Amino acid sequence: MVDLIIGGSSCQILAKEISDELKVELGAITTTRFPDGELYVRIDSDVKDKECAVIQSTCRPQDSNLFELFAILETLKDLGAKRITTVVPYFGYGRQDKRFKPGEAISARVAAKHISLHSDEFYAVNIHEKALLKFFQIPAQALDAAPALGEYFKSYELVEPLVIGPDDGAKDLAEGVSKVLGCKCDVIEKKRIAPGKVEMKKKELNAKDKDVVIVDDIIDSGSTVLSALEMLRSQDAANVFVGCVHPVLTGNIAARLFAAGSVDVVATNTIPSQISFITASSVIAPALSK
Ligand code: R5P
Repeated sequence: MVDLIIGGSSCQILAKEISDELKVELGAITTTRFPDGELYVRIDSDVKDKECAVIQSTCRPQDSNLFELFAILETLKDLGAKRITTVVPYFGYGRQDKRFKPGEAISARVAAKHISLHSDEFYAVNIHEKALLKFFQIPAQALDAAPALGEYFKSYELVEPLVIGPDDGAKDLAEGVSKVLGCKCDVIEKKRIAPGKVEMKKKELNAKDKDVVIVDDIIDSGSTVLSALEMLRSQDAANVFVGCVHPVLTGNIAARLFAAGSVDVVATNTIPSQISFITASSVIAPALSK
């Protein structure tokens, strides 16, 4: 069981929610900028001999959040923390997990190696690929927000619900959500043409007159969920809802999804955003209470 929760800049509310849920002290930390723009980090709480959990997503501004995380971890170690658990609810750079073109940096591995330097254990929520966990040189696990998403959609009185994953990678998430809703799920086949551009293979989804929940791990440009939404609307689904774990939200995609007919567009707060209405604390706190 951890003694102290430290929230980085990207996860201030989530860290507070986790500390409330676990009834564990929330550490005080100061982050500001030097006049030249460099980051200043100070840990104000006493961390000596404490089991600390650091909560910091590496979302936008990715490099700043990443550096802040490295600075917090190194400082905690230096100040004598007994054990450090790093929780990166949204693990940025997760999609650069291999060398797609010669000479490319495997950025996910770079981040993982540096986090491993000063951590004893690592958790992420719905990490993009589970294979990424092998990049860590410490015990590393992915937590699953499907139950939290499922519980949220349960609060709607859905008629003949159906859960759709907009690509094969969303299969496990769709299955997890459908389990909570007690309904069927299906996935669509997606081909990415370019960043922000996808093509969906036509498929009969048996969605007519059903309330459909589309779930994906990430909504970035939103082209994936938007194409799925259009396919479902063309197949006469009654109501379509969209949920994701990580609202990366490039551009005004939430507004575009509403305009395209989505009844709700919602995400967890692994990344703070205008649609982050589901707390990820119920996903993370149990892992820290062991
Ligand atoms: C892809 O493999 C992921 O699971 C998401 O489907 C993808 O990152 C979403 O990206 P976008 O919102 O840009 O279509």
